[in-house]
Amino acid sequence: MSDFTSNFWSYYVASVALIGIIGCALFLWNHGSAAFAIGKTTGHAWDEDLEEFNNPLPKWWSWLFYITVVFALAYLAYFPGLGSFPGLGKWTSVGQYEAEQATAAKAYDPLYEQFRKMSIPAIAKDAKAMEMGQRLFRTYCIQCHGSDGGGKEGGFPNLTDNDWLHGGTPERIEATIKEGWQGVMTPHDFLGAETVRNLAHYVRSLSNQPNVDPGRANSGRDAWIASDCNTCHGSDARGNPDMGGPNLTDNIWLYGSSEATVIKTITDGRNLEGGNTTNNRMPAWGAFLGDDRTKLLAAYVYSLSNK
Ligand code: HEC
Ligand code: HEC
Repeated sequence: MSDFTSNFWSYYVASVALIGIIGCALFLWNHGSAAFAIGKTTGHAWDEDLEEFNNPLPKWWSWLFYITVVFALAYLAYFPGLGSFPGLGKWTSVGQYEAEQATAAKAYDPLYEQFRKMSIPAIAKDAKAMEMGQRLFRTYCIQCHGSDGGGKEGGFPNLTDNDWLHGGTPERIEATIKEGWQGVMTPHDFLGAETVRNLAHYVRSLSNQPNVDPGRANSGRDAWIASDCNTCHGSDARGNPDMGGPNLTDNIWLYGSSEATVIKTITDGRNLEGGNTTNNRMPAWGAFLGDDRTKLLAAYVYSLSNK
């Protein structure tokens, strides 16, 4: 259907196109039939002796141009392009996308049907499924998790190791992708700079970082117990998948292990709402991708750390 509200604009657009094409042809014809005295100059001269000859256009060039004019007219007669004239061929792009979708559905529906009955670890062992999963991952996930799923410093977790914020069981992975997650590490500036620094030494001692002061680490451990760290990180600091608090005893860091970075994390927190970073939100994909593709992606992510 045409979007024009009256035929006027349709004729207007069509005539601009036709006048343009026919004008080109007439101009060419006019030029070709003019009389030329071969070798005569126009009288213009540049840089003292650079002169402009007034010669006819080469014949091959004129004929090529005529061919483009004929092509343009034939094209506009067959395909839509002149105002709302649909073209003699009645070609249309309406429905092409739906047709593509239907073809894709025919190819993929039986596969998804099959995956629906399989467990995530079983899907993770299926080569065809993993090929499809990788394609989905490359479309929707790599801007934050990297093309290999290796993550990025600054809050984007590595999905190929066995360190999980929200748990690495097939069910947990599927739920994280489906529902998303907002990482919330609350600010602890109220503890005061000294205590925060002690906490940083304690936290860094857990993964044997260099330059840890044992005295500060000891005081830091007391401060850890007295504060709320264990709620989200677990009393042994090995993480709490229900709160999304990472394991702080391995040497795997979302934000970095330097003393300054750890102090900053504890002081300001890492929390979108606090405005400190926009990095720790995992979007919810369930509604957008649907159950089948979410499950396939869960299997793909599972496969990255379960070879
Ligand atoms: C806009 C960036 C972004 C995109 C896009 C994104 N993620 Fe995430 N994802 C994150 C962040 C940030 C986290 C960590 C959330 C937190 O800090 O708790 C995360 C966490 C996860 C986790 C949990 C990791 C763990 O250690 O428990 C999984 C699984 C995951 N993402 C899979 C995916 C998949 C699959 C896709 C593609 C459909 C995807 N993500 C797309 C940002 C993103
Ligand atoms: C409300 C829950 C919560 C509390 C309370 C909390 N944390 Fe966190 N912490 C988190 C979360 C969640 C993250 C990961 C941030 C993200 O997902 O981007 C985190 C990240 C961190 C990191 C950075 C780890 C890395 O890999 O870069 C450190 C260090 C840390 N917390 C230390 C502490 C200390 C010390 C305390 C107590 C003073 C504490 N946290 C209290 C939830 C919490």
